[in-house]
Amino acid sequence: MPAQHDIESERELWDTYAAGIKDEVFEAGPVFRWTQYASHGPGAELLGSAASALEIGCGTGRAMAALAGQGVEVTGVDLSPVMVGRVSERWGSSGVRVHCAEVLDYLRGTDETWDAVYSVFGAVWFTDPLKLLPLVASRLNPGGVLAFSQPPAIPGAYGPQGMYKGGFAGKALYTYRYSYTPRGWLGLLRRSGFESVEASVLDAPTEGHIGTLIVTGRTPRG
Ligand SMILES: C[S@@+](CC[C@H](N)C(=O)[O-])C[C@H]1O[C@@H](n2cnc3c(N)ncnc32)[C@H](O)[C@@H]1O
Repeated sequence: MPAQHDIESERELWDTYAAGIKDEVFEAGPVFRWTQYASHGPGAELLGSAASALEIGCGTGRAMAALAGQGVEVTGVDLSPVMVGRVSERWGSSGVRVHCAEVLDYLRGTDETWDAVYSVFGAVWFTDPLKLLPLVASRLNPGGVLAFSQPPAIPGAYGPQGMYKGGFAGKALYTYRYSYTPRGWLGLLRRSGFESVEASVLDAPTEGHIGTLIVTGRTPRG
C-alpha cells in the first residue's frame, strides 16, 4: 500500500511543531545555510544568479529573509498556519511573501514561475517526489534551479518513512519522510526532466555526526 498522506493531520503535526519553536529562533537574523550546522557547507550560491525564488516548506523563513536581503524576489509556501503566521509577523516587512498551503496544491494552482525552487529540510523531504518533482519542473523558468537538502537516508531505509509526532501515546499524528540514496535522487530528478543533476552527502563538521544530503538540478534551457 502506498503512503497515505492525511494533510489535515500533517497540518496539525506541523502546527504543534511551529508553536514549539522558541521565540529566539524567530528573533534571530537572516541566514541561508543548507546544513544543520552553523557556518558549515555551501550557501545561496547553489541557486545561481536567481532573481526569483520559491522556498517550499519554508519554516521559520530565515533563508527567505537572507535571499530577500540580496535583492531576490522571494516567495514561501508552508503547510502550517501557525508557522506562516509567525513568519509573516517576523519577515513580512522584508518583502518576503508567504502562502499557507500544501505544496502540491500550491504548485498545481499557481501559474507563477521562478528561477529557483529550494527546500532546506523542508517540503521535498515530506512529499512524494514522483508527484512533487515534475510539478516543480513545470514551475521553473528555462535553466531554473531546484536545490534541496535533508538528512541522508538511513542505510536500507528508502522511500516513504512513516514518522509519528511526539512519541507513541496520544493522538496518532504522523507524516512521511522520503529518503533515497544520492543515486536514487539523481534518477528521480532525471525522470522528472531535470538536467545537470548532482547529489552527494556532505560530511558533518564532526566525524561520526549526521551529514547532509544536498541535491541540485536544472530545467533545460529550451
Ligand atoms: C523541518 S521544517 C524546516 C523548514 C525550514 N527550512 C526552517 O528552517 O525552518 C519543515 C517545514 O515543512 C513544512 N511542510 C511539511 N510538509 C509540507 C507540505 N506538504 N507542504 C508545505 N509545507 C510542508 C512544515 O510545515 C515545516 O514548516
